[in-house]
Parts: sequence; structure tokens; C-alpha cells
Amino acid sequence: MKMTLESIRSSIKQAALAAFGKDLKDVDPSIAPATNAAFGDYQTNLALTLSKPLKIPPRAIAEQIVSKLDLGDVCEPPTVAGPGFINLKLKRAYLESQLNAIKSDPRLGVPKAACPKKVVVDMSSPNIAKEMHVGHLRSTIIGECIARVFEFLGHDVLRLNHVGDWGTQFGMLIAQLKEVCPSALTCADAVNLGDLVVFYKQAKKHFDEDATFQERARQEVVRLQSGDLESVRAWQLLCDQSRRAFQDVYDLLDVHNLTERGESFYNPMLADVVKELEQLGLSVEDQGASCVFVDGFLNEQGKPLPLIVRKNDGGFNYATTDLASVRYRVRQDKADELIYVVDAGQAAHFAQVFAVARLAGWLPENVKVAHVPFGVVQGEDGKKLKTRSGETVRLQDLLDEAITAARQELDSRLEEEGRDESVEFRSSVARAIGIGAVKYADLSLNRMTNYVFSFKKMLSLQGNTAPYMMYAYVRVQGISRKGDIDFEHLPSEAKIVLSEPTELELAKHLLRLDETLETVAEELLPNRICEFIFELAQKFNQFYESCPVLNAGEEERTSRLILCHLTARAIRLGLCLLGIPLVERM
Ligand code: ARG
Repeated sequence: MKMTLESIRSSIKQAALAAFGKDLKDVDPSIAPATNAAFGDYQTNLALTLSKPLKIPPRAIAEQIVSKLDLGDVCEPPTVAGPGFINLKLKRAYLESQLNAIKSDPRLGVPKAACPKKVVVDMSSPNIAKEMHVGHLRSTIIGECIARVFEFLGHDVLRLNHVGDWGTQFGMLIAQLKEVCPSALTCADAVNLGDLVVFYKQAKKHFDEDATFQERARQEVVRLQSGDLESVRAWQLLCDQSRRAFQDVYDLLDVHNLTERGESFYNPMLADVVKELEQLGLSVEDQGASCVFVDGFLNEQGKPLPLIVRKNDGGFNYATTDLASVRYRVRQDKADELIYVVDAGQAAHFAQVFAVARLAGWLPENVKVAHVPFGVVQGEDGKKLKTRSGETVRLQDLLDEAITAARQELDSRLEEEGRDESVEFRSSVARAIGIGAVKYADLSLNRMTNYVFSFKKMLSLQGNTAPYMMYAYVRVQGISRKGDIDFEHLPSEAKIVLSEPTELELAKHLLRLDETLETVAEELLPNRICEFIFELAQKFNQFYESCPVLNAGEEERTSRLILCHLTARAIRLGLCLLGIPLVERM
């Protein structure tokens, strides 16, 4: 419907120009879906926004615009409502022609971008020698969904894993391992990530308590940073051990094409980043540290808050690395849009990094940048999700548990329904539902909301959940099985005819897929996709309850079967963009 809205918008603009003259040549009527279906499909508040500059009551403006407005084949004659809204109702024949056009379009009427962009998505980004936690889960699945939407819209997407693989903590860890488990530094299979996490904790404690250990740890950092072969090899081994554990999670989540470009990648560029800032006159020395002050950034006391880019010990930090990441992604990757999917707690960091990058000219006007923040996952107690003993929940455990819980639900449902299914069926469906449920529960909420993690809720067959949506797809597909109809080969000359109100509602919703995806790419909000398919499933149910399909007369029957098939395809596409696995039966 995007093209339709474009043309309606330009017709309204023409009408406003015709009515009020060329003073209005810059007006940009915004068109929103109608809040109440009784008023039509779309509405514009243009008359209300023009009232002040034109010094004319909005209703009078609306009436004049309407008198000049010709929406020919697209809309019924527009009407004016309330204080001056112009209501638009799409013509039935127009809807039919639009649907007939998309029924043979594999993209369901969603056009590919006229100007494909290079989009870099920074996502997942766990830390070496630490467990991935639910924050990384959110970053991974939100990032993956955004990446899939951009790809589907025809853009060139680079998914980057900004792994925390560099910094003084490695000196500490290596020094500790040399003492207690030297084999971990020379032999690939000596330890796993779980062991490393324990060693890391020990190392930290040791560091805080023992001054001579601190000194050893520092020497290890120097050795590593100076490229000492043995140290670098040990560090690589530690990274590999973590990477294997991360990869298991990515496999479960069906996340591929993730390019690892950890913090270490930017290390050779950091000195130059700081040098450039100095040369540009953007940084100042403050107690031995190199700082950039940007207007508008204040600390809690209301004093100017610097972005420190080189610490007083000469070391670089997280901010320096992210400045390098921005510069590299624009200069080398030629990105048109940079997206950083990182928890909301880092909002201030990114705001400041982006501001400094703009000042430095590393982020030109025409390059879009966004920190895509998200909230916290909570346990049933309302606090940050932790294990009973207060540890970080291992993602692998969480996902395994989801699959187990899904399996239990499935087994008892099959028993209730008296269905005898194979073990293979049960385990593959349980895996799809379990993983799908975790993802959907997360993606269906506005990402800024904190939410309570609950298997029971996310596995429910009722409500806006993965099982509900997966089941909706199965049901629509089931119609073809029931009627022994090959959805893929409905007569190609068959036409969609819309008569019943529920049929029209379903049709209009199907035509909004392109707008929806466009909005997702604009607002970077995956929950819009969930809203779209959830509403679609509901509209489909209303249609299916009130309109006979398999028992309808020949022409209606084919038309309605096409509607069913379009619905199934739209749900399939939506779930695929969300990264939710599909099953044909469940
Ligand atoms: N490793 C960081 C963390 O676990 C996230 C990194 C996000 N990406 C970035 N470019 N800073 O919090």
C-alpha cells in the first residue's frame, strides 16, 4: 500500500495547492491509518496543521481541500470528520486489483529498495572468558531480525560481532592460568568456557588481593600488547575456547553470517584515532588523559563530561575502540547506515561516541547512525534474571530448558489429542517451539520494555506467542490438506473478489505488509512485525469463521483459497524475518 499512500499524499498536496495557492508548496500531508474503522481506512490531519498558518478554521480548510480532491479509482469520495480530519476509504475494486497483483509476486508486494544501502549491524558481541548472558541473547535476536528485514528490503547487510576480546583482563587471566592451569595456554582442549569463567573470577580476586600478582598481570598485558608470540598464541587459544561455546548458541538460534570483528581488531587503529582527534583540535589533555568535550554532555553534578579517549596510563579504552569502529565502518566498509544493538545501559556511551565521531567528520551527515537500545530481562522476582545461586544464566542452559519445557507441553498435548507421533517429530517440533517461543517473547515487546522471563507464558498456545503464530500458520496450511488443494497451483487466471466485510478487512491488512516492513526499517522495532502477523491471524480467524471457503461456490471458493494462501505466505514471511522456525504440523 506504500505506493498507494504516496499517490494519495501527492493528490492531497495538489488539492491543497489548488485550494490555497503556492504558499503551500512545502506542505507534506501525513497519512495515518484510521483509528476507527468506521471512519474509513486512512486519515490525514493536514487541515488541522494548516489552520494556524492560514488563520482559517480547520474544518473549512478540510472542506476546501476535499472539494478539489480527486482520488479517482483509489478511494471513495473523501469525507470530513470531527475538527477537520479528512477520512479516506479505499475502493473495493482497487483493493481487489492490488491483491490480484501481489498474488503471483514472491515478495508479496514488498518492493526492493530503489537505492540499496550498505547497512552495518553491530550485534551479539559477548565477551571472551565470560558467559553469554540474556543481554547478549537480546542483542543477537533483535540484531538478526533487523538484519533480515534490511536484507529482505534489498539492502546489503554486514552483521558484526564486536566481541570483547581485548584489554587488561587478559593479562590477569594469563597470569592466573600460568600459575594454576598452564595447559590451558598451550593446548586447545584443556578447558572449556565454564572453566575459563571460574579461572577469570579467581584471577580477579587474586588481582585485588595480591600486589605482586598485579605486577605479573601487568607484565602479561605488556607482553601481549607487544605481540610476544607465546602470549598471542595463549590469548588466541582462550578466544577459541569461548568462541566454540558462542557458536553452539548461534547454531541453536539459527544465526549465521555473523562476522567476528572483536575489539582487538581495532587495536592497531587506536593511536591514530587519538592522534586525529588531537590534530583536529578536538581533544584536550586533562591530568595526563586525553579527553574530548562535547557541548551538552554533563555529569551528575552538571559539569561538562569528557569522553576519555586515552587514559592517564597511556591505555586506550572502550570509547576509543568504538570511535575506531565508527570510523572504520564508514571509511572502509562504506556504510550508509550504522546500527548498534546494545543494551540501554550504554546509551550515554553511544550518544557521546556518535557526537564525537560527527565532530571529527568520521560520520558524515548522510550516514545514519543508531544505537538500538533494549531493556532488561527479569526473573519471576522482578530482578535481573539470575540463577538461583545468583550467577549469570548460561544461554545454552536457558535455551535447552526452553526446548525441554516445550517438549513437555507437546507430549501432554499429543496425549490429550490421542496422537501417536514419532520421537523425531516430537524432538524437532519441541526444538522449533522452544527456540521460537524464547525469540518471539522477546521480539513481540517493544524492545525498550523490561520483561519477566516465563516459560509458561511464552509457550502458551493462546495470545501473542510463538506457538499461537506457528499454529495459525499450520491451520491455514491445513485448509489445503483438508480440501486436497495445491495452494501453489491455484488457477493463475483466477481473480480475487471481495464481498464480505471480514474478507475486506483481511485483504486490507495483507496489503499493509510493505508499510509495516518499511516502518520496521525506519524505527528498528521488530515488535511491529509481531503486531502485524498477530493481527493478521486474528483477521484471518474472523474471515474463516464468517466466510465458507471449501464449501463456497466456484468463483468465491478460488478467491478465498487465494486469500488463505496469501495469509499463510505473509505469516511465513513474518516469522522468517523474526527468525522463528516454521513447522508444517505441530
Ligand atoms: N561486549 C559488550 C558487552 O558485553 C558489548 C559490545 C557492543 N558493541 C559495541 N560496539 N560497543 O557489553
